Amino acid sequence: MADVKKIAVLGGDGIGPEVVGEALKVLKKTEELFGYQFETEQGLFGGIAIDEKGTPLPQETLELCQGADAVLLGAVGGPKWDNNSKELRPETGLLGIRKALGLFSNIRPANVFDCLKEASTLKPEVLEGTDLIVVRELTGGIYFGEKFRREGENGQEAVDTCVYNVTEVERIVRQAFDIAMTRGKRLASVDKANVLETSRLWREVVIRIAEEYPEVELEHVLVDNCAMQLLRRPSSFDVIVTENMFGDILSDEAAMLTGSIGMLSSASLGEGSFGLYEPVHGSAPDIAGQGISNPIATILSVALMFRLTFGYHDAAQAIEDAVKEVLDAGHRTGDIATDKSKAIGTTMMGDLIVAAMKK
Ligand code: IPM
Ligand code: MG
Repeated sequence: MADVKKIAVLGGDGIGPEVVGEALKVLKKTEELFGYQFETEQGLFGGIAIDEKGTPLPQETLELCQGADAVLLGAVGGPKWDNNSKELRPETGLLGIRKALGLFSNIRPANVFDCLKEASTLKPEVLEGTDLIVVRELTGGIYFGEKFRREGENGQEAVDTCVYNVTEVERIVRQAFDIAMTRGKRLASVDKANVLETSRLWREVVIRIAEEYPEVELEHVLVDNCAMQLLRRPSSFDVIVTENMFGDILSDEAAMLTGSIGMLSSASLGEGSFGLYEPVHGSAPDIAGQGISNPIATILSVALMFRLTFGYHDAAQAIEDAVKEVLDAGHRTGDIATDKSKAIGTTMMGDLIVAAMKK
């Protein structure tokens, strides 16, 4: 019997549905070329779910994801919901789905495509050879700690707590070491151990687990220094592992090394093979509906899904090669075009990539 993979598809808001639409074409082409089979089902998520169901993460959407082998997500959010209360914000749905699906690990690769070096704000010689992965802890830390307001001596105060336990640190750190073993065998653990207690615990755990990975060259980097080193010597990093909020900030910085956040894919994983895949970029409400967004990050997220959840390395390679071929041929969406007048649209970029896919 054919092994049909179930994929929950959450287009979300802004450019989300349009970039996901192009990724679905890639899935279809993969079926034709490689004989793999996918069953996709769409769910409401984010702002659109707030409008239609009164909550950013409706129960039926969560169940759809729980019953799937993988989730493909577009993007959520937009000005329309920015002033809503916490429960009615798209971002709350995003944090909720990560927590509910146990996706404690967020993997964000940042590799510089040679032909796009000129799109970065950094000098090409600094970027030369940059190929790194940020492994971000995704379900703990200050994002999920207790939050409240109270009356202090000088009026209202707000409190966000940052909590990490040993198990939470161990599982993400171990995963980062495992990834480093499959790549350049270099791991930078990023913390703020000179100030924060959670960081001191983090560092203790890293040092202990490092004993299991004698081949991996480990460095501890303070987060402020890491922000600087990423701009100074990006190519010296291989795998970076860090806690939730540091990872949020550093992964945006790492994304910009590549010239366009429109190129970067991400995976959020838990203990098993199940994963949620999404572009690193947001919903870009300013360009939504104009057909000019870059679908490459979402298309590359499908390749990441093939590699990490399904083990379809041949199809993943076909997608990655097709993207490279199309870029090498000079095709660009507006965000990565040096000559904006020659930029192509979302659908055209998707079609070119699909056409370039080969077995
Ligand atoms: C990200 C985003 C989210 C985060 C926001 C939208 C809640 O910035 O995925 O990096 O902070 O995790
Ligand atoms: Mg972020």
